[in-house]
Amino acid sequence: MSRTVYVNGEYLPEEDAKISIFDRGFLMADGVYEVTSVLDGKLIAFDGHAARLTRSLSELDMAAPVDMDELLAIHRELVKRNDIVDGLIYLQVTRGSPGDRDFVFPDPATTPSTLVLFTQSKPGLADNPAAKIGMSVISIEDLRWGRRDIKTVQLLYPSMGKMMAQKAGAGDAWLVEDGVVTEGTSNNAYIVKNGKIITRHLSNDILHGITRAAVLRYAKEAQMEVEERAFSIAEAQDADEAFVTSASAFVMPVVEIDGVKLGDGKPGKVALRLREIYLDESRKAAI
Ligand code: PDD
Repeated sequence: MSRTVYVNGEYLPEEDAKISIFDRGFLMADGVYEVTSVLDGKLIAFDGHAARLTRSLSELDMAAPVDMDELLAIHRELVKRNDIVDGLIYLQVTRGSPGDRDFVFPDPATTPSTLVLFTQSKPGLADNPAAKIGMSVISIEDLRWGRRDIKTVQLLYPSMGKMMAQKAGAGDAWLVEDGVVTEGTSNNAYIVKNGKIITRHLSNDILHGITRAAVLRYAKEAQMEVEERAFSIAEAQDADEAFVTSASAFVMPVVEIDGVKLGDGKPGKVALRLREIYLDESRKAAI
């Protein structure tokens, strides 16, 4: 069934939605995005995603196409028009279409940014059976650019990473730079040792996950110990458990790293507890 999508002020059937071939998102990957999950028809952590979008836009000198109240209204309208119970809303802003190809940024006064949103229905998103089994990951070199804190649509290397993982029979890849893990291809990475949760500190080297912020807050509130620092693959393989977080996977246990099983090879207690707390609290705070 055709979805209703949003393009620059209009709600349209997906087959009628069009973007110029000169759009800088298409030609230059000159755009940013957000993915917000929907549970029981409500948005999870919308404010966090809106705040990170505002920051991504400002770091790239890109104008916000609509204010955040209107953005919320568009999200809600798409949930309604597409009858989304559980799923995701994808949002993308690009520097627009100047009507030709040029490396120089166009004048925002004459080239407005492009705003596109669409929904992905995922019934039972929070009951993903994979969370009960856990996921295996491989490690690969992190070959991305140096501003991973900006959520740009330059997703070629993360896509290649997922393909390398798929080829190796794994669920995802963890990216390694200077001997330590930055993050997963589309999630933040964590290990747990002697009850302590260890995850990379915030910097330009990783995306500042909205799920990460919430999970660390809930962990501290539950008196769990958290250490924000880099860790190596060898340290991760020696950990008691591991997991990743993202808006679409929530908290997903990792049970194997480069062929080495963690502990008994089953999802860890900390990861499962955090998943439960995260889902409970997120549902309560959903709007
Ligand atoms: N990915 N790190 C990277 C590189 C990501 O792409 C993502 C999100 C995260 C987790 O961020 P958050 O908790 O705010 O979702 C970390 C989204 C889900 C995606 O690309 O589909």
